[in-house]
Amino acid sequence: MSEPSSLMQAIRSAPVVVTGGAGAIGSRLVRRLLELEPSSLSVIDDLSSGHRWLVPDDERLDFQRLDVCELSAELLPVERPWVFHLAAFFANQNSVDHPIEDLRRNGQGTLGTLLWASAQTGRRLVYASAGCSIAGHGVDAPIREEMPVSLDLDTPYQITKALGEFYCNYFADQLSTVRCRFFNSYGPGEVPGRYRNVIPNFVWAALHDRPLTITGTGDETRDFIFVDDLVDGLLRAAVTPAAHGGAFNLGTGVQTRIGDLAELIRDACGSRSTIRFAPRRPWDKSTHRQADISRARAELGFAPKVPLAEGIERTVEWFRAHRQPIERSISETPR
Ligand SMILES: NC(=O)c1ccc[n+]([C@@H]2O[C@H](COP(=O)([O-])OP(=O)(O)OC[C@H]3O[C@@H](n4cnc5c(N)ncnc54)[C@H](O)[C@@H]3O)[C@@H](O)[C@H]2O)c1
Repeated sequence: MSEPSSLMQAIRSAPVVVTGGAGAIGSRLVRRLLELEPSSLSVIDDLSSGHRWLVPDDERLDFQRLDVCELSAELLPVERPWVFHLAAFFANQNSVDHPIEDLRRNGQGTLGTLLWASAQTGRRLVYASAGCSIAGHGVDAPIREEMPVSLDLDTPYQITKALGEFYCNYFADQLSTVRCRFFNSYGPGEVPGRYRNVIPNFVWAALHDRPLTITGTGDETRDFIFVDDLVDGLLRAAVTPAAHGGAFNLGTGVQTRIGDLAELIRDACGSRSTIRFAPRRPWDKSTHRQADISRARAELGFAPKVPLAEGIERTVEWFRAHRQPIERSISETPR
């Protein structure tokens, strides 16, 4: 996608802070930001689910291992920054198993980041919300931003991601915020694990010729967006003046069957893996999920460009190139 020069200029004009910058998406955002050469770049992460090796060793970047619940002007005295708040407890199953920790990190963590950003007179805070959080289950049509907020969410994670949106709106008089609702992100940077998304887990299993286990029938669909396209949407959400106070779906608008995804990954890995089926997880009540991205297209100029097959190829390439650190990170992650 051609990049508006105004985007680069706006990012260069002020310091940037990324919370959760050692995570799957945050680390890709950090790489992209370094290319845009902001006046300063601070990366905050407590490494609870992120990995230090994902963050480039670059002298232009200040990495602080810090819990966002503890953010303060003393610890992070950055004036008038752009803030990308991605730090979070990830994700649905993890929150079902650890609901209190989910509330602390996603609820208190987002409130703490907003309070800090507001005290620093932040230019804007872009909040990483979730497409699964707002409309609830049973919505088979493409999800639009203006759909009513459901009071019947399925996991503590969905509740606390929605809570973050409420807090963003609460701060409207003091701080410009934009809420970006991510659909299923995938790509280089996501280490597999019990609580991680389907794509890294399928790729890792396929590279080892282990079975790919679908929790469901394989007919379920999701909207998968390549991480670098998502990052492009986040940058646009930050610097587009008219996005102030808005919510934007960042997906592709394309649904993919999980059964087709498993076959695509198996082929891309040249794997002998079998495909198995297990019962759906009890909280997983959404059979289909697809974003309507017309608002982000029209108002942010957002246009995801990486088709799934190409994105999977690039993801597999990344796994092949980083086998050792991935292996190490998997073995270090508590299960
Ligand atoms: N990956 C997806 O498909 C997806 C979908 C919807 C929304 N999101 C949201 O996007 C954001 C990034 O997701 P991701 O996939 O990169 O997850 P991730 O787990 O890889 O990244 C989250 C990062 O936040 C850090 N973190 C957690 N709690 C923290 C705290 N209290 N203080 C400081 N750092 C902390 C973790 O160590 C990790 O590096 C999250 O807010 C997530 O809820 C992701």
